[in-house]
Amino acid sequence: MAALLYLVVLPLLSFTICSGASPWQTMTTGSHIKGEDHDKVFFLSPDATFSCGFYELGTNALTFSIWYTTSAEERAVVWTANPYSAGSGYSPVNKYGSRISLNHDGNLILTDTNGSTVWESKTSSGKHTTVTLLNSGNLVIKDSSNNIVWQSFHSPTDTLLPGQNLTKDTRLVSGYHHLYFDNDNVLRMLYDGPEITSIYWPSPDYSAQINGRNRFNSTRVAVLDDMGNFVSSDGFKIEASDSGPGIKRRITIDYDGNFRMYSLNASTGKWNVTGQAVIQMCYVHGLCGKNGLCDYSGGLKCICPPDYEMVDPKNWNKGCKPRFLIDRNSAPENFKFVKQPHGDYYGFDLSSNESISFEACWNICLNRSTCISFTYKGGDGWCYNKDLLYNGQVYPYFPGDNYMKVPKSFNSSTYSISKQENLACGPPGSESELMLGSASMYGTKKDNINWTYFYVFAAILGALELLVIVTGWYFFFKKHNIPKSMEDGYKMITNQFRQFTYRELREATGKFKEELGRGGAGIVYRGVLGDKKIVAVKKLTDVRQGEEEFWAEVTLIGRINHINLVRMWGFCSEGTNRLLVYEYVENESLDKYLFGERSTESLLGWSQRYKIALGTARGLAYLHHECLEWVVHCDVKPENILLTRDFEAKIADFGLAKLAKRDSTSFNFTHMRGTMGYIAPEWALNLPINAKVDVYSYGVVLLEIVTGIRVSNGLVLDQRQIDFLEFVQEAKRILSAGSVSDIVDDRLHGRFDTEQATAMVKIAFSCLEERSKRPTMDEIVKVLMSCDNEEDFHPAYSY
Ligand SMILES: *[C@@H]1O[C@H](CO)[C@@H](O)[C@H](O)[C@H]1NC(C)=O
Ligand SMILES: *[C@@H]1O[C@H](CO)[C@@H](O)[C@H](O)[C@H]1NC(C)=O
Repeated sequence: MAALLYLVVLPLLSFTICSGASPWQTMTTGSHIKGEDHDKVFFLSPDATFSCGFYELGTNALTFSIWYTTSAEERAVVWTANPYSAGSGYSPVNKYGSRISLNHDGNLILTDTNGSTVWESKTSSGKHTTVTLLNSGNLVIKDSSNNIVWQSFHSPTDTLLPGQNLTKDTRLVSGYHHLYFDNDNVLRMLYDGPEITSIYWPSPDYSAQINGRNRFNSTRVAVLDDMGNFVSSDGFKIEASDSGPGIKRRITIDYDGNFRMYSLNASTGKWNVTGQAVIQMCYVHGLCGKNGLCDYSGGLKCICPPDYEMVDPKNWNKGCKPRFLIDRNSAPENFKFVKQPHGDYYGFDLSSNESISFEACWNICLNRSTCISFTYKGGDGWCYNKDLLYNGQVYPYFPGDNYMKVPKSFNSSTYSISKQENLACGPPGSESELMLGSASMYGTKKDNINWTYFYVFAAILGALELLVIVTGWYFFFKKHNIPKSMEDGYKMITNQFRQFTYRELREATGKFKEELGRGGAGIVYRGVLGDKKIVAVKKLTDVRQGEEEFWAEVTLIGRINHINLVRMWGFCSEGTNRLLVYEYVENESLDKYLFGERSTESLLGWSQRYKIALGTARGLAYLHHECLEWVVHCDVKPENILLTRDFEAKIADFGLAKLAKRDSTSFNFTHMRGTMGYIAPEWALNLPINAKVDVYSYGVVLLEIVTGIRVSNGLVLDQRQIDFLEFVQEAKRILSAGSVSDIVDDRLHGRFDTEQATAMVKIAFSCLEERSKRPTMDEIVKVLMSCDNEEDFHPAYSY
């Protein structure tokens, strides 16, 4: 109890004493808060959980808002009075001259510098009116007899607080996305964009009943309780993964159109996602804007179709525009089609035809001036012609392709410029250009069989996902925070992650004296910062990106935080200098311990090797499946696996693939990422690169961990030099003969766990398969963990 009091009182004291601030409990008529005083005068709820007043949106830009006082790390704004527009957000007032005042007639108003009313409560309860902020976060206006005449809980913005009802009269809105009760009593999410409106949750392809919703309870109310249950009268329910009392929570529609439950970690002051509604982000409508495609193949990202480019490079909601001028009256023979493999746009069909040939479908669109694209599904021969392209997806299991109409005279670039938002490496997309009548166009027969199979698989996945939604079990929620916008993201990380000056880093490294290593991306130096923190400073050699792009990407990498990934503390971008500042990892890289100078003095024992294999897999799984912007590493090898003093693996250099200079017109071996011996065969085949390249490289590393030999370079076996593939054949033979000990490093003298070694070798083989057969890193982690005989020591991991 004493501790609780202390917690409550401390913020109060620190406000009053340190800054001369005087938080208000109550506002009476005739009083006001000035914009200039925003950091001194504000409301505080009696238990100090919430604050209300002017919130600094940017320099000189304020909003009248309520926020969680207690989330020091990331301020969570839960309500805002200022007018909101989907395209540009809250319109702020000027810091100088703006006021929040309670008039003598009892009207609470927000005025801007010129005295104009920006917002008002429209109450007229007389001169004994009071305004208070309750412990629940509800701002209430009461009349002289203490009746509530207005409350912020009745006009929510993008957030619902515990105890606050979402009713038939209210909705949560963020950007173009709305959460509301529909006329049939079902809680839905709607994309309400400038051009189109469509429902995306629950799945519009199924009835309310199949989606597990009840249309017959007309109460229309949804509420988040103190235990972390969000329950809606139509039967929808989410339970927070940390359900229980005493935790501060909120439900927010994020800018990406998903609604998520967040819980505050009181010790770190950070918000963790503990539940969410839509699991597959590509199902959110409007995510990639008009003409844009949501692509899951190499991790979540938005892409533009071939020969299209982003309207606003900072905002995918605005979609893509063609890079050519289209003259609709031009004769059909002046057009060609460009293929987007496995692409499709949901809805807005001009026409759809079943059981027609590809050529017929092609001709329909070609001869129709309003048709700008068509999707053709092999197998059943479905043909969809479209004049408006929204809700696009590239889905590897989709048994069809999309074709964009492009003027024949337009010189299509094979690879549209790198406008992809994720940190994946390699050439963007695999857009190939087809002319009518080209041979490759008809060669789809063979594919159909496979894709039918995958379609069934996708349907099963879809059904499973539905089940997940219906039962309200959230296995797949992410444990990181999704900021509402890029700027919030920047703010969020400024505490730990920062920009350094070149001079600072030159001093920290003693003029770049002590070299720790050299890699493809640059040279790494040891440095000591002003606060005595030891860091590794990487000087990048071939970054040609502009300041802004570099900053945007580095900030994304800086947000990635996982025990098995080397943490980035900051960066420097001055003139042509581009430097990255990393956490310093005590020991050397894995290669030194496996085959280098360290291996003689301190050979890695079996349990250390197993732990390193598992840690590396976890780090990669995090990059591929869990972090905000999914990342493909592209250069997994022992040199990039650093070891802490406790031999915990930490992967270095992730995200650099995106920073490295990429020539978008010629992509070939010389521009290839990765290191010979560890690179997957698809690099050479010029196939689109996805997370499976890392799985391949991980397989090679796994074999090296088990054997203690640089097998990627080939080796001498029975006095014969064999290459890596021959080694794999030989190892497979040995394993099937049941003698895994012949593969394991002899230097261990038989001191290893047979079950673990067998599992590791088997995983390695599966990683080296043709890529569709390779497992995902998540699956690998699961298999490795199932043979962890020290399982009890890692209860904190929750894969
Ligand atoms: C309708 O929903 C409300 C709120 O969730 C609930 O209390 C009530 O029991 C429901 N009514 C029926 C008939 O299910
Ligand atoms: C809060 O964060 C700390 C540090 O990350 C962690 O150890 C602790 O378990 C978290 N608490 C809760 C309730 O999640």
